[in-house]
Amino acid sequence: MQKELEHLRERAKEELKTLTEQADLEKIKIKYLGRKGELAEMMKKFKELAQAERPKIGALLNEVKIDIEKAFHEITKSFKSATVSSANFDVTLPGIKPERGNIHPVLQVQRELEDLFRSMGFKVLDGPEVESEFYNFEALNIPSWHPARESQDTFYVKGGASDNRLLLRTHTSPMQVRALQQYGVPLRAVVPGRVFRYEATDASHEHTFWQMEGLVVDKDISVSHLIATMKELLQGIFYREVEVRLRPGYFPFVEPGFELDIKCFICGGTGCSVCKQRGWVELLPCGLVHPKVLEAGGVDPKEYSGFAFGLGLSRLVMMRYKIDDIRLLLGGDLRFLKQF
Ligand code: DAH
Repeated sequence: MQKELEHLRERAKEELKTLTEQADLEKIKIKYLGRKGELAEMMKKFKELAQAERPKIGALLNEVKIDIEKAFHEITKSFKSATVSSANFDVTLPGIKPERGNIHPVLQVQRELEDLFRSMGFKVLDGPEVESEFYNFEALNIPSWHPARESQDTFYVKGGASDNRLLLRTHTSPMQVRALQQYGVPLRAVVPGRVFRYEATDASHEHTFWQMEGLVVDKDISVSHLIATMKELLQGIFYREVEVRLRPGYFPFVEPGFELDIKCFICGGTGCSVCKQRGWVELLPCGLVHPKVLEAGGVDPKEYSGFAFGLGLSRLVMMRYKIDDIRLLLGGDLRFLKQF
């Protein structure tokens, strides 16, 4: 009988382990613990035992009964907690909303400008941020001895040739020559992107900022095409009358070259840290493409001419949203970024 009892205990536990439906729990309980169940059957057998066997078997019988009851208790509890938690779950509650990021103000303005230029038949191109000295300087008529290199000091990168080092591009202008080489003429293209300078940072200087280069090359392109396109551009950006001034400006890759300034939006022209107390902000250097640049791009300057501009995208965004410190753009401060 001892064996029988032990076997019974194992069977009951085994059966409970494989139980998945709560409804089956009651059936098994009756089978083992019920009035006519297996334990009750054992009880009957126990009573027929000889007196000498009783203490030992009686103790075991008790033990088995307690074990089986305990196992039932345990499994009943686990079923209960499962039902309680699903009963407490309100399926109509709104879910936890994943946090949604938003688009960086620079990218927002960049996309708007891309649309504007696409509507005027421009290609939107992307260029390498690690550029060669050739495209960044040489091809743009800035040889190594040229003083213009000093104002565009940058970070040099390992690799490249000793006479054509690799660097972080200082402007988007290298794409003028790359685009001409790749697509030929006639060409209308804009190139938005990040550029880098070895700068001491302050409210209006960063080591990394955004520009958008523009290039149009075709037959008989003149300054009037340039001015008309710039006007269209500024109206598209500011949706209002913007006070501008055009000054002669020197860039080795344009001839003639201009500086287009806009009246400072931050201070309204009275002078602040962004406009360096000048009341005007340099926004759009531009000019007619230098013949040497056309030649570097494989284009005959006697047949074709063009204009180019280098829009200061970071500055433009600052004017548009009245941001008074350029360092906020790359600062990664969510309190700032969430406002856009
Ligand atoms: N690449 C120049 C800079 O970053 C800006 C520039 C000036 C671009 C004149 C042009 C241009 O396309 O025509 O300082």
